[in-house]
Amino acid sequence: QAAKKGAYPYYMLKEIDEQPGVMRTLIQEYVNEDGSVKIDQELLDALSKADRLYIVAAGTSYHAGLVGKELFEKLAHIPTEVHVASEFAYNPPLLSEKPFFIFLTQSGETADSRQVLTQVNEWGYPSLTITNVANSTLSREATYTLLLHAGPEIAVASTKAYTAQIALEAILVKAYGEAKNIKAAKDFDVAGELTKVANGMQELVDEKGDIEKIAQDMFATTRNAFYIGRGVDYALAQEAALKLKEVSYVQTEGFASGELKHGTIALIEEGTPVVAIITDPKTAAHTRSNAQEVIARGANVLFISSRDVAAEGDQIILPEVDPLLSPLVSVVPTQLLAYYVSLQRGYDVDKPRNLAKSVTVE
Ligand code: G6P
Repeated sequence: QAAKKGAYPYYMLKEIDEQPGVMRTLIQEYVNEDGSVKIDQELLDALSKADRLYIVAAGTSYHAGLVGKELFEKLAHIPTEVHVASEFAYNPPLLSEKPFFIFLTQSGETADSRQVLTQVNEWGYPSLTITNVANSTLSREATYTLLLHAGPEIAVASTKAYTAQIALEAILVKAYGEAKNIKAAKDFDVAGELTKVANGMQELVDEKGDIEKIAQDMFATTRNAFYIGRGVDYALAQEAALKLKEVSYVQTEGFASGELKHGTIALIEEGTPVVAIITDPKTAAHTRSNAQEVIARGANVLFISSRDVAAEGDQIILPEVDPLLSPLVSVVPTQLLAYYVSLQRGYDVDKPRNLAKSVTVE
């Protein structure tokens, strides 16, 4: 039943809409009434022994890993590296003495990620697979597994698995940081924060019409586009760019907004769409000034900002959530934008050309 489209024209739209519910399911599955987290003690003990985390993933899951790095470093004080699986496989980094590997994979079947896990098992290091599919290959072969409980994801472009991965990373880091007696983790009310996220996501999916109109006004004929941001907004920009390019074939780059001026700004022309993601008060003014630089060169800028840092004229205002969790809400308008641009161009949103849901070849 969960895999039926029902009244929806496409799975992608259904899966975008399901995200508030996925947040609530994760809270139910992993958080006790008293706010403590239900995570296997053995897994927490293994994590506590690690001196460094290595997150390995592909595609959208890799982007969820980039957000995870921020969570693990800030709330569990553990140095964390994020690697594209196909790169790690043939060119592994110099490992720390006590590495712990986290594989993020919606399907649990991606060959590039599995290849790394096979190597990790030969080395004898502990690992955790975070996946949507119980009993999948990467789940069976890793030391530990945590399930995303997002329900089947059918559209090739991943949406709810991305937000489920970030939410589960947040839940895990709560338990992990607490086990390490870190104050920031103890103070982090993960159930309360994810409930705020779920409500915020709901507000955003309820305002689809705004995004549909922006897609028409700003993206109808463009061949390229940019997403810019700093910190977690940069991590989000990379996922937002992937989503837009994979379903609408608009060549899109996600860029660190401060880095634009070192080359990429040469691509800005009259009318080039640039989406500025602004959620972090620390860097809001800087990203705004980078946006001004592209406006001065003719770019058509769409501002997506959190309520607390919003400025007059910003087109999409995001509900306020914990700054570390902001990609969970800022991603929603970017998913909808990708969906509508694809739809308006007449493409099959659920089955973009040349792509597969799960890539089981290297
Ligand atoms: C394919 C899909 C992507 C996905 C990636 C990783 O390329 O088209 O949407 O992000 O594989 O998949 P995984 O199942 O490992 O998360």
